[in-house]
Amino acid sequence: MPNEGSFEVALRRSEATLADMNEHPEKYTMLTGDRPTGRLHLGHYFGTIKERVRIQEMGIRTNVLIADYQVITDRDTTKEIADNVFNMVVDYLACGLDPAKTMIYVHSAIPACNQLMLPFLSLVSEAELLRNPTVKAEQEASGHELTGLLLTYPVHQACDILFCKGNIVPVGRDQLPHIELTRTIARRFNKRFARKHPVFPEPVGVLTSAKLIPGLDGRKMSKSYGNAIALSMTADETAKLIRKSQTDGDRLITFDPEARPGVSALISTASVCTGRPELEIAEEIGDGGAGALKRYVTDAVNDYFAPIRARREELSKDPTYIHDVLAEGNARANEIANETLDEVRRAMGMVY
Ligand code: TRP
Repeated sequence: MPNEGSFEVALRRSEATLADMNEHPEKYTMLTGDRPTGRLHLGHYFGTIKERVRIQEMGIRTNVLIADYQVITDRDTTKEIADNVFNMVVDYLACGLDPAKTMIYVHSAIPACNQLMLPFLSLVSEAELLRNPTVKAEQEASGHELTGLLLTYPVHQACDILFCKGNIVPVGRDQLPHIELTRTIARRFNKRFARKHPVFPEPVGVLTSAKLIPGLDGRKMSKSYGNAIALSMTADETAKLIRKSQTDGDRLITFDPEARPGVSALISTASVCTGRPELEIAEEIGDGGAGALKRYVTDAVNDYFAPIRARREELSKDPTYIHDVLAEGNARANEIANETLDEVRRAMGMVY
């Protein structure tokens, strides 16, 4: 009997939900989001943004959150946050998120969403919070102390998801502990306060089949490693970053992520952009060496992102429009959050 919280169970649930989403899009509300800590890069795009656009086009209610409060979970500054938020909206729209269909908002602007934190905190134990492997990993990676916010942000993430009654959350595997906690909170709230008329759904983490592409050096793609191609880079900046990337002395190009992380990361990058299998690309470059491979990758990336970058450029010229998109998303999110908080207050008998 697999344990309820195991990866296998989550994967099976995800697959069943993905199949049902096609049949019954009207049953679903998607909520997912990003921390505005920098520019979106290829990893974000192929890992999740593309999938969000696909879900948007299926006719599912789609909500995308810019999680500004999560920036201070493991860092001490909000320097550049306004610029990061602005550029995140630009990236979203350039990639095809359509504000007429998708609600884009920041959670710091939604008081009623944040207020759900109080009843939700009462539903989880300290031990449950301390067990969260993603929180532990983030703390270790950042070297930051375990603040109250770092420990409890997964509960805040449950507020993000449940305020709009999100029932599907496209995420990477590292976010599954948070989805599990959100399910627990929804279940406990309904059981404790809303037995007759459950208030919250138990959301499903939807794991996309997208391959995780490594950064240019084969490590996890991250701005802080300097191995990430941002959507906002120009074609020249992209070429330069690829040119600088570390390969090895073997002229014959082969795909071998273990032994040749740099060369293989370049091949994977070209593969996601062209849709061609990695082995086919490696064979075609053959003994052309790293120079030929890098030229091929540069063209693949720049061709794929040319239209997105052109839209990005256009959108950046109209900051008023970008701010309006966010203001409208925030206004709509506030309406939804106020309705949900009212329901919560009623369920808890807090109507005076
Ligand atoms: N924790 C997510 C990340 O680091 C961002 C996020 C915040 C999120 N709230 C969310 C994702 C709600 C999904 C649902 O990328």
